[in-house]
Amino acid sequence: MPKHDLRLVSGYFGWARPFDPGSQLGCPQTIRKVDATGGWKACRSSEEDPTIMTYVVTEACIRCKYMDCVEVCPVDCFYEGENMLVIHPDECIDCGVCEPECPVEAIIPDSEPPAERWLELNREYAATWPNITRKKPYPADADEWKDVPDKHDKFFSPNPGGT
Ligand code: SF4
Ligand code: F3S
Repeated sequence: MPKHDLRLVSGYFGWARPFDPGSQLGCPQTIRKVDATGGWKACRSSEEDPTIMTYVVTEACIRCKYMDCVEVCPVDCFYEGENMLVIHPDECIDCGVCEPECPVEAIIPDSEPPAERWLELNREYAATWPNITRKKPYPADADEWKDVPDKHDKFFSPNPGGT
């Protein structure tokens, strides 16, 4: 394990020593809990503290699933379903770097009114779908689904991806 690690913590870079599992990193937005590998995950829920913000994936992602977003996320908080991704609201540090990466503008901050509908879907499926940290080949017909409306009602799959 490296003695030091460069981490992005809530929008700024800084040198962070590896901490003991269970210790916490504080920052203005949330508190990150150090896991067994020396990495860290959010441990204070945005449900409990509404001042914590998150980004959410909306239905525009369904059947497009380009996965450009996962490559830029500094905390690896995307989770993969069969035909879309979601963001774990309690792990997202609200950095916003994924938003402009999505070719279909499927990612929005939860401060935008349409996000309310998608926040619970993101929370629910991030709890069961597998984590994804690397882009894979996207669906061959992804471009055909770019402008299709109401994809959730007709095409959402609750099945996990990554198989
Ligand atoms: Fe990851 Fe996007 Fe959240 Fe930033 S805003 S932590 S890139 S999901
Ligand atoms: Fe979906 Fe856009 Fe990411 S289509 S997989 S949110 S890049």
